[in-house]
Amino acid sequence: MIVRGSVMVLRQTLVRLRFLLWDQRVGNPEPAVEVDGLIRRFGSFTAVDGVSFAVETGELFGFLGPNGAGKTTTISILCTLLRPTAGTARVAGCDVVKQQGLVRSRIGLVFQETTLDDYLTGSENLRFHAVLYGVPPREVRDRAQPLLEMVGLASRADHQVRFYSGGMKRRLEIARGLLHAPRVLFLDEPTIGLDPQTRVHIWEYVDTLRQRELTTMFLTTHYMDEAERCDRIAIIDGGKIVAIDTPAALKASVGTDIVTLLTNDDAAARAQVRRVFGIDGDLTPEGLRLDVRDGEAFVPRVFEHLTVGVQNVNVRRPSLDDVFLKYTGRGIRDADQDAVAQSKARMGAMARRG
Ligand SMILES: Nc1ncnc2c1ncn2[C@@H]1O[C@H](COP(=O)(O)OP(=O)(O)OP(=O)(O)O)[C@@H](O)[C@H]1O
Ligand SMILES: [Mg+2]
Repeated sequence: MIVRGSVMVLRQTLVRLRFLLWDQRVGNPEPAVEVDGLIRRFGSFTAVDGVSFAVETGELFGFLGPNGAGKTTTISILCTLLRPTAGTARVAGCDVVKQQGLVRSRIGLVFQETTLDDYLTGSENLRFHAVLYGVPPREVRDRAQPLLEMVGLASRADHQVRFYSGGMKRRLEIARGLLHAPRVLFLDEPTIGLDPQTRVHIWEYVDTLRQRELTTMFLTTHYMDEAERCDRIAIIDGGKIVAIDTPAALKASVGTDIVTLLTNDDAAARAQVRRVFGIDGDLTPEGLRLDVRDGEAFVPRVFEHLTVGVQNVNVRRPSLDDVFLKYTGRGIRDADQDAVAQSKARMGAMARRG
């Protein structure tokens, strides 16, 4: 046990040393991802419209936006799967157009759609990927088993993937994305449609990995709890970045509290609030929603003026969902439901085709 533990520590030290040497070789460490004025058109339609941002090494960077905002298109360009129409992007120190091979060797991908071979076993899928990436066989032996253990698939590694559940496939894809020790791991909706327990499990691996291998993570998600984990978030809408900051700063940028009043007549309450305070409320299933500067001070004042009976009052600080609503005009959960529905429709279509 002690010997095994020492080998693990030695291996982790070597991985860190390798990154340090790499950083010294390139001088000051560049951002892990650096995008400048990126544009991608499909015919006359502009899917990515002049996007610029940088992601630091070791960051967990979230890329959020409604369906069709341009997230997958941007990631596809960063992964060299699609050429930009204009602008530049560097990933792990290399240009995505001029140094495609180097970029590919330094990144890992876990995409929205599953790309595993159903008729290969879990182990075979990993070995096949290793060959594509030119990972030396000795390194594959060293890395594949711990990765399979980490994603809880060691006992199923010799079973064909077509007998895996959706969650198991996702976990295998994550293991595969990490097999060649990528410097940047792109995760495009890695947990979409999975049950909460599996999602928690996957996030535990991701956290372990970030600590152990200093991997930079570039994530798209429609789940608010996953967005909360990010060091920084960029919100993209209609191909443009509309906000970029830490989750806390983004929430602070909303600038108002949310007061929800459930009354005997929400429409009448709304009219009264508008007349007295000049605030336009929204009628929601939870009650009358009011965005106000200082929620706690507002509540006693509203009680003074309302003539309809109040059943319930709720005051809360803005969540990332409110941030999403402010910058895109939609709730993140609406986008999530759309995305799950789309994903199911695609899976259904694939099953019918298969
Ligand atoms: N190959 C293509 N040809 C034409 N249009 C495309 C192509 N790929 C993407 N688009 C369009 O570009 C826009 C951005 O698509 P993209 O897949 O990047 O969105 P997304 O933000 O990933 O959305 P989702 O949340 O649904 O995954 C969409 O309007 C989409 O229809
Ligand atoms: Mg997408």
